[in-house]
Amino acid sequence: MLDKYKLVGPAYDALSKAYSGNAIHNCKLAMLRQDTLGPESNVLIAGAGLGKDAIHAASLGAQVTVVDISPTMLSRLQKNVANQTNAAELNIDTILGDILKFEDFGNYDVVVANFFLNVFDRDKMTLLLQHLARHCNPGGAMVIGDFKPGQGNLLKQGFQNLYWYAAASAFFLAAGNAVHRIYDYAPMLEKLGFDIVEQQDFEVLGVDMYSALRAIRQ
Ligand SMILES: C[S@@+](CC[C@H](N)C(=O)[O-])C[C@H]1O[C@@H](n2cnc3c(N)ncnc32)[C@H](O)[C@@H]1O
Repeated sequence: MLDKYKLVGPAYDALSKAYSGNAIHNCKLAMLRQDTLGPESNVLIAGAGLGKDAIHAASLGAQVTVVDISPTMLSRLQKNVANQTNAAELNIDTILGDILKFEDFGNYDVVVANFFLNVFDRDKMTLLLQHLARHCNPGGAMVIGDFKPGQGNLLKQGFQNLYWYAAASAFFLAAGNAVHRIYDYAPMLEKLGFDIVEQQDFEVLGVDMYSALRAIRQ
């Protein structure tokens, strides 16, 4: 299968740093903390990319499973894990493949989709969100860090949209990602039977550009 992240993958973290400073990085890790991950929590990370969040969760004691469709991303993730000083203590299973073909329903305390769902058009994103939600055990959590839908005055919304469409267009050209309006995951999660228990926003140039959500399955 074509590896869409072959070219852009190796530079992914450097690009996100150049584009957002530390905002994307902080957004990915915000909901993965000692108080949100019990000891030995089972964590599933969909489209894990270079795996910063996976390494972070595993460093807190979680048993982490990552699924990514890109051999480039997954082999970089494995190298990143091996380069950690605490590599021997990290419990991270890596699975190369399409998350839609991964079926380990009801088995995870936390399911993470950071900057993953925005890759897809609305129909596929909806399907993926439903699929990921089924992996959460009752009382488990979905964690989503991603671009924040436009809010505030027209100037702020214009800036947010410009900022998002610049990235979406670049990733359309580099990796064939879909270009669409920014998704609002909170009502979608509520429809799937989750309660939003926490939300944190992250700024770029004084405007909230990213949002991390944590939602508990009823
Ligand atoms: C925009 S990147 C985000 C990576 C990472 N979550 C992050 O925040 O840096 C999207 C990732 O999803 C992966 N991906 C795309 N489609 C996938 C699928 N159907 N199943 C699993 N992974 C997929 C890509 O290979 C890529 O690593």
